[in-house]
Amino acid sequence: DAYGVWISEIMLQQTRVAAVIPYYERWLRSFPTIEALAGAELDEVLSHWSGLGYYSRARNIHSCAKEVQARYGGELPRTAKELRALPGIGRYTAGAVSSIAYKQHEALVDGNVARVVSRVFAVEDNIKSTAGIREQWRICEALVPKNAPGDFNQGLMEIGAMLCKPKTPDCVKCPLQEHCRAFNEGRIDQLPVVSKRKAASEKPLLALEAGYLERGGKLLLAHRKAEGLFGGLWELPSANSREALADLTGLKLSFLGKQASLLHEQVLSHRRLRIRVWPAQVSGRTKLAHDSPYQRLSWLRLAKIPSIGISTATRSILERRSEIQHER
Ligand code: ADE
Repeated sequence: DAYGVWISEIMLQQTRVAAVIPYYERWLRSFPTIEALAGAELDEVLSHWSGLGYYSRARNIHSCAKEVQARYGGELPRTAKELRALPGIGRYTAGAVSSIAYKQHEALVDGNVARVVSRVFAVEDNIKSTAGIREQWRICEALVPKNAPGDFNQGLMEIGAMLCKPKTPDCVKCPLQEHCRAFNEGRIDQLPVVSKRKAASEKPLLALEAGYLERGGKLLLAHRKAEGLFGGLWELPSANSREALADLTGLKLSFLGKQASLLHEQVLSHRRLRIRVWPAQVSGRTKLAHDSPYQRLSWLRLAKIPSIGISTATRSILERRSEIQHER
């Protein structure tokens, strides 16, 4: 079923199969068809993605469902070309959906496939370089059979994930061993050519000060505008400084301690995130500044939070609520 293949392939770009399964099952229970997904609120869609990270993928899935509903009556088109014209569907996803769900004669390359073909064909270009990527696609397009292209594509991905692992490949069990140039030339540890991963300490730091405002079983949460990092998600109102926090939200804040009562640190793909949480009290009404990253602020019941879209950072801060010193 093309819808299920599409959703699972996007989820699998975020994390491993075992981690995806519960997300995938919950997703299909809530949004059993593209029509149901297209009719859902973005917030509800984001809440089903919460924890997978890289939330623009979920926003794109939602826009894509609306477009497929409007243009194709709720059924994903069959060709890779038409699929690629849809939001959030790139070369890999178009190849996966068209070959697996529709048996179209299309290749695909993901990180696992790139490693397998770089080894088997001894590709000397860096695995992530333009030249390397062009070569991987050229090889896969030449190899993919007309008969069962989806099985071929999934087989290559599976070999990459289960056997042809980055550090300790299991060449003894590999069905491609006799064809593998890296193996035959004793160069398994030199291929693929990779660039060093950026150390976390080299990534730019995003340091935020967050206000923790709780009263009467409700928490003041801020809803980000749709665009940008964490777009469309709810979080503790935060800014670069406590002064900026007051300015952006229009809140008259009085902070309850001289020190932040909780520190959250996390390494994202392109930056380090550090959030200090400051319990505070608020007086007056909220008035968002024009240049605020938020579309609105709301007092939400704690029990409602599991059904809204929050990031992993916000979730882990809220799970540590008991550490936050505040007046009830
Ligand atoms: N990794 C991502 N999608 C996959 C698929 N369809 N089969 C095997 N491994 C995968």
